[in-house]
Amino acid sequence: MGTNNTEGDVFTLSTPSGKELSFPHVKASVGPGGIDIRKLYAETELVAYDPGFGDTGSCESKITFIDGDKGILLYRGYPIEQLSENATFPEVSYLLLNGELPNAEQLETFNGDLRKHTMLHEQIRNFFNGFRRDAHPMAMLCGTVGALSAFYHDGLDITKPEDRELSAIRLIAKIPTIAAWAHSYSQGSPFVYPRNDLGFAENFLYMLFALPSDPTYKVNPILARAMDRILTLHADHEQNASTSTVRLAGSTGANPFACIASGIAALWGPAHGGANEAVLKMLAQIGDVKNIPAFIQKVKNKEDGVKLMGFGHRVYKNFDPRAKIMQQTCKEVLGELGIKDEPLLELAVELERIALEDDYFVSRKLYPNVDFYSGIILKAMGIPTSMFTVLFAVARTVGWVSQWKEMIEQPGQRISRPRQIYTGAPKRDFVPVGKRG
Ligand code: ACO
Repeated sequence: MGTNNTEGDVFTLSTPSGKELSFPHVKASVGPGGIDIRKLYAETELVAYDPGFGDTGSCESKITFIDGDKGILLYRGYPIEQLSENATFPEVSYLLLNGELPNAEQLETFNGDLRKHTMLHEQIRNFFNGFRRDAHPMAMLCGTVGALSAFYHDGLDITKPEDRELSAIRLIAKIPTIAAWAHSYSQGSPFVYPRNDLGFAENFLYMLFALPSDPTYKVNPILARAMDRILTLHADHEQNASTSTVRLAGSTGANPFACIASGIAALWGPAHGGANEAVLKMLAQIGDVKNIPAFIQKVKNKEDGVKLMGFGHRVYKNFDPRAKIMQQTCKEVLGELGIKDEPLLELAVELERIALEDDYFVSRKLYPNVDFYSGIILKAMGIPTSMFTVLFAVARTVGWVSQWKEMIEQPGQRISRPRQIYTGAPKRDFVPVGKRG
């Protein structure tokens, strides 16, 4: 890559034959650095073996910092607690994309740019008609965002900063419209066009819930604020599975809309963004506080791969700071909606309490993650379970495009191409079908 900070310390590795190899220390501005092993294969004919990439730094990045032991999450240096309390999602988006918080004028221009691009090409409407009525909204989102590449391909030159910028704006601005239309399509209700007099989160809720037959529909400002905060909490999370997928696809020079579609596909899985949907299904399945001990026992016995969904994280081994904010937001939203004694919230709180006292979870450092409470809020807002991961994707699009942009702009950027340890058959000769036993 050519830009990393490798002066100073070196690490040495002794091979079984007694050869000593030195590897430079890659310094981080905060937190642990790394060991630059790019010459490992050339020097040893061995590759670094790290399935799941838990110990692999795939890039240098200035966007998001996580300290998993201390439960710290920073976007461009700013703590998530401060951003979710004081900034709007477009402000956070500008920060993630550009590195600094916008001043008032920059924010106005950015909001104006986003508004300019909220509409979809009318032919995108036709895509929806091709889906089954019961299609999962994530399938529609993934397909439709991928299809945007058919509209923005010719003439798009990702080596030009202005083209990268425009692609980023288009993606951030259009994905709420696609998400809302996926919802409308599954409900059988008319598509609602964006309203550029509304804020980002407010417009999103409007497109999800307004109906042409009710011109008096108004978005509840407390719910709009909660949605804005949910978007901020999900906006970026360094090199997680979906972001790494976007970077990997983007490293080939592929169309950015197609790259974001690949991120949406990776996010869908229940081990990643699909967990918010899985949490609600799990809570519904448990059904009653009295069933929690039997469920926990099932999880501990690893019966049929049953997991406590919304618990555990590859990086956070103390607590997920987003989960704390989400729990607070959950209480605020339920209060605003006048929902007292929400059985799912009671169930979630009790499940969390029991799990946090149980040695199985304590010894494995498993704590609630961002998705443990988000589903309860979204359900209270009237959003169907199948839409939960779609909302996550709407928010994460800003992180994906910021990471994609950063990668393309890195000097010496090259295709991502991991190696493998081959464990299959050694070379052998072909046997014609008649001669095979
Ligand atoms: N419930 C029960 N046991 C768990 C859970 C869980 N939710 N998570 C991890 N464990 C156990 C594992 O079985 C393993 O046990 P072992 O040491 O006896 O083998 C141990 O804890 C370590 O877990 P790993 O699977 O090695 O952890 P990893 O970092 O690979 O996985 C992950 C992290 C995928 C998030 C995992 O904790 C999980 O599946 N959680 C549930 C799904 C979820 O909530 N995902 C959302 C993640 S946050 C996000 O993407 C927004």
